[in-house]
Amino acid sequence: MAPLAEPTQNPAMRLLLIGPPGSGKGTQGERLAEALEVQHIAAGDVLRAHVYGETKLGLQVAGLLKEGELVPDKLITEALTPTLSAAAEEGGYILDGFPRTVAQAERLDRLAQRLDVAPQRVIHLDVDDGELQRRLLERAQSQGRDDDTPDGIARRLEVFRTTTAPVVELYRERGVLLAVDGAQTPDEITQTILAALSDAVAR
Ligand code: AP5
Ligand code: MG
Repeated sequence: MAPLAEPTQNPAMRLLLIGPPGSGKGTQGERLAEALEVQHIAAGDVLRAHVYGETKLGLQVAGLLKEGELVPDKLITEALTPTLSAAAEEGGYILDGFPRTVAQAERLDRLAQRLDVAPQRVIHLDVDDGELQRRLLERAQSQGRDDDTPDGIARRLEVFRTTTAPVVELYRERGVLLAVDGAQTPDEITQTILAALSDAVAR
């Protein structure tokens, strides 16, 4: 597979955020995007915008999102490609929630090679299942996301453990993974990530 770019090649950052549902991908994605002045692209948000807009893609994937099942690799890759390449042209991106399968990681490799937008670091937010359930059930009370039901949460957790965990291992083997304890406060997590990134650039 294609090697990832070194962080020192470009001062703007291209990062992936991978973690189970409720691990704080969205929370940290927004904070890091602000701190690093790059665009935050959340795969789930892109899909939900299609669902709310009742686009052709939205109608195809609405049921899958609600049940906590993954959208087919080809559809999600095509949905993200224009936004990702535009963001990379502007200098960088924080991509939250993609890739979630090894096949998606391979699609990203090909896209990154073609457009020269390879991610430089992959951040893995690690949180135990009990805390994830607590956070998502709490969010269900306030925001009512369609997939924040007990069944939807359980299925998303299972999909992460069975299908996305191998993607974390793939990036670990490539030496680009930054594993972060996602049970800290949001501020602590942001600081931990920013400190680790500046260490990586300084080396
Ligand atoms: P997606 O929208 O990505 O949902 P998810 O992975 O289930 O994760 P969440 O968005 O629920 O949580 P998060 O990690 O962003 O945490 P957040 O910051 O919100 O994907 C939804 C669906 O889209 C998938 O199930 C699938 O159907 C489809 N999809 C998406 N990507 C796909 C792909 N690549 N391939 C195929 N299908 C795809 O935080 C959660 C809560 O915790 C919030 O209330 C927050 O305030 C709180 N919180 C955050 N950090 C902390 C902290 N440190 N301490 C305490 N509370 C915290
Ligand atoms: Mg999210």
